[in-house]
Amino acid sequence: MKTRQATSTWALARRVLPALLMGVSLGAAAQGEAWQADARKVASDVPPKLLAMLTAAIDKGGPEGAIEVCSVEAPKMAKAASEKTGWSIRRVSLKARNPKAVPDAWELAALQDFDRRAAAGESPATLEKVELVVEGGQTLQRYMRALPTQPLCLQCHGPVANLSPAVAARLAALYPADQAVGYRVGEMRGAITLKRPQ
Ligand code: HEC
Repeated sequence: MKTRQATSTWALARRVLPALLMGVSLGAAAQGEAWQADARKVASDVPPKLLAMLTAAIDKGGPEGAIEVCSVEAPKMAKAASEKTGWSIRRVSLKARNPKAVPDAWELAALQDFDRRAAAGESPATLEKVELVVEGGQTLQRYMRALPTQPLCLQCHGPVANLSPAVAARLAALYPADQAVGYRVGEMRGAITLKRPQ
């Protein structure tokens, strides 16, 4: 009797366990997709807003007058979006203008991977990396998306010879160690990077 009961319990477990396990893994997958979708949404909301502000500021005061938009408004927008969404958000580059925009190890690997993929023909507009990363004992959701150079960007990130004297002077005064020039349209200028504890 004892054995039979054990057997039937086992038989039941064999039927139910796979279903349970599948439920668990489907749940985890759905959860994973939710944070990834959220990161994607936040990362794609910010750049068009910045572009609109830049365009308006350039129309009003020329590119030299719009430098403040990138240096003051962009970090403000990132901060506001961080407070609203819980993501810590910033921009990084392999050739940074702001010395704070230097990537950490995970971001550096992603930027280098993006560069390789772009060189192999992928469009920089679609390059992204999404991963759960354990850092200092904490699991972080991390997301990064490339920011391609658009024609408008060249006024402040294009070849030095093409910058207006006013822009060049303003950049030299604000960013003595500026590396973020010499880009061409379509090249990856940098990336927007998001992270938050899981
Ligand atoms: C009016 C000048 C101007 C224009 C136009 C401009 N930028 Fe910038 N960009 C700056 C300045 C100034 C900084 C440094 C901001 C700071 O101090 O945080 C910067 C910083 C950045 C950064 C952060 C990494 C770094 O190098 O510090 C990225 C990424 C970036 N710009 C991308 C772009 C893209 C993409 C465009 C076009 C859509 C663009 N920028 C257009 C002036 C400009």
